[in-house]
Amino acid sequence: MKRIGLLTSGGDAPGMNAAIRSVVRSGIYFGMEVYGIERGYAGLIENNVIPMEMRSVSNIVQCGGTRLRTARCMEMMTKEGQQQAVRTLEKNGIDGLVVIGGDGSFRGARILSEEYGVPTIGIPGTIDNDLAYTDYTLGFDTAVNTCLDIINKLRDTMTSHERISVVEVMGRHCGDIALYSGIASGAEIIVVPEIQFDMEQILRRINHSRANGKHSNIVIVAEGVMSADEFAKKIQSGTEYSVRPTCIGHVQRGGSPTMADRMLAAQFGNKAVRLLNEGIGNRVVGIRDNKIIDMDIIEAVSMKKTFNYELYETLQMISM
Ligand code: F6P
Repeated sequence: MKRIGLLTSGGDAPGMNAAIRSVVRSGIYFGMEVYGIERGYAGLIENNVIPMEMRSVSNIVQCGGTRLRTARCMEMMTKEGQQQAVRTLEKNGIDGLVVIGGDGSFRGARILSEEYGVPTIGIPGTIDNDLAYTDYTLGFDTAVNTCLDIINKLRDTMTSHERISVVEVMGRHCGDIALYSGIASGAEIIVVPEIQFDMEQILRRINHSRANGKHSNIVIVAEGVMSADEFAKKIQSGTEYSVRPTCIGHVQRGGSPTMADRMLAAQFGNKAVRLLNEGIGNRVVGIRDNKIIDMDIIEAVSMKKTFNYELYETLQMISM
């Protein structure tokens, strides 16, 4: 493979820049020409293609966001859009593609490889950690650490006022950001889309913790369940303690990536290029049991994410 393309697609995630750097430098190492496609699939359809050199990716390993910019592109779901995307690749002589993004982006990657024969490698880049085939997605660790920073601060003021904090985190339909930030922040309660909540039980846990000397409570609610405002109102109607809602929002998507995300980025990017260099396409890379893996893209996107009930029970046992 002589010339490869690279794009970031869907919601941005901390570590995308570090992955871009890894792909570009690994490609150059193997003697390839690397082209960046700006604005995800929209840029692929509109031929926003730029050459990437060694120095194009200097000083970005520590930056949040994506220098290639990103977009959610409905046109890529149409036959016309897909054909235009393939024409751009042909016009630029690009014979392999790396797509960094979440499940929506992988759908586009699958179509390009399966239906149009473009060797494509997917790198999982989303804060949601909602892809079943990989233990972690790029950006998840940084997003959870951002949540922890905010929850620590909330805990200070909630304790001073003996309040209950209801904190809304992102994750779309997946409760992993809530689960991991709940355990790591010592939240008493997490509410996730995977488990039906029981308000009576939540109020019992709050009352029990107060009877046992707690001066505040943290309740983390995943956005896939309901908003912090709505959930705070529900709790408030069943308790005399004062409740305050906080939605963390898009802050979770920004910021300098953690060491864990930079390590993933370096390895995912390098693995993606190694595969293309061996003439292998139509795969996604990931991490499982601490090992970098690759897998058939169709198999990966059809896997169903399972919730870690053991971690959930751990939180129930230790956060009181
Ligand atoms: O997929 C990442 C994510 O941040 C989700 O957690 C959230 O539901 C969604 O994107 C928000 O999308 P947007 O940036 O388009 O508002």
